[in-house]
Amino acid sequence: MDKFSFGLWTVGWQGRDPFGHASRPPLDAPVTVRKLAELGAWGVTFHDDDLIPFGADAVERDRRVAAFRAALDETGLVVPMVTTDLFTHPVFKDGGFTSNDRTVRRFALRKVLRNLELAAELGAQTIVLWGGREGSEVDAGKDVRAALDRYREALDTIAAHSESQGYGFRFALEPKPNEPRGDILLPTIGHALAFISTLEHESLFGVNPEVGHEQMAGLNFVHGIAQALWQGKLFHIDLNGQKGPRYDQDFVFGHGDLLSAFFLVDLLEHGGYEGPRHFDYKPLRTEDVDGVWASAAANMRTYKLLRERATAFRADPEVQEALRASGVLELSEPTLGEGESIVDFIKGDDDITPAVERGYGFVHLGQLALEHLLGAR
Ligand code: GCO
Ligand code: MN
Ligand code: MN
Ligand code: MN
Repeated sequence: MDKFSFGLWTVGWQGRDPFGHASRPPLDAPVTVRKLAELGAWGVTFHDDDLIPFGADAVERDRRVAAFRAALDETGLVVPMVTTDLFTHPVFKDGGFTSNDRTVRRFALRKVLRNLELAAELGAQTIVLWGGREGSEVDAGKDVRAALDRYREALDTIAAHSESQGYGFRFALEPKPNEPRGDILLPTIGHALAFISTLEHESLFGVNPEVGHEQMAGLNFVHGIAQALWQGKLFHIDLNGQKGPRYDQDFVFGHGDLLSAFFLVDLLEHGGYEGPRHFDYKPLRTEDVDGVWASAAANMRTYKLLRERATAFRADPEVQEALRASGVLELSEPTLGEGESIVDFIKGDDDITPAVERGYGFVHLGQLALEHLLGAR
């Protein structure tokens, strides 16, 4: 079965934005679970506050969790990932783990630590951490080096607690360059990977990149994912659509840069990623409730279509020949020969004339991909 998953906050988004009120009624978590299962999804994810309203008492909490669990049991939907909301409540206006206010930092850390137990109870394997409010608008207002110390302190603490409780979680940091903060810490996949290398439990941490977030930073998402895979750090992924560097659009997967989505699916399917295909999108504010479910289905349908097209692309003998002619396969060969002496190597001579004269045929390759994507082959 395809591991398609959705956050409660995605289909549940009511269309509230900085300029307008909600355009849709709230969705109950059990209703969402049943509807997602009906549409063919495999998993559902949530922020603590999506399931249990901030400040709810123990009775309310238990009632909500029981109703959610009943819907999971009934449908067979799994909870592969859980995350914590450290951005909605005004207490987090200057961040959670990196707020200048120590009271807030302690509150945020407790909120995440407490959420781990619920995540474990529901069988989650991955904890996503998106630090949407960890950042600043005024450079003088944030000592970034101290903030990174506190970020690291929080993550080291969370990982230590998870290990001591035997939860066995893996943690996935989600980069984003800006929005809601003017500038967010760990803005890109690269920043996150470099930061992770400084953590005490480094092996437990990876990334949860979101298509639109890297594109907001003007970066190539497929390259970012390839590097995360190469470093063994692609723990989770947020699929959606974005049209270039502007506000976070969270469109349906493929409804942004379609060619990039094609190469992304090709990479995920043929590059060894086995984790969830998690859709973190927002149904357009213009849609009614039926439109919400149509948009959820569209994400999965698009993914499957792209997979079919990518498989056809790979299987086409003309594509194989074009890959060979472009040197794509040759790149896997180590630059030095096995056991080759570096001292002798330096003395060697290169005839670079053929390399200067050759063409790589990348345009032909790109066109073959486009034609497969369009169903013209
Ligand atoms: C965004 C973010 C969020 C996070 C989610 C997980 O679109 O800005 O992707 O949706 O993924 O909150 O914590
Ligand atoms: Mn987003
Ligand atoms: Mn996301
Ligand atoms: Mn999102």
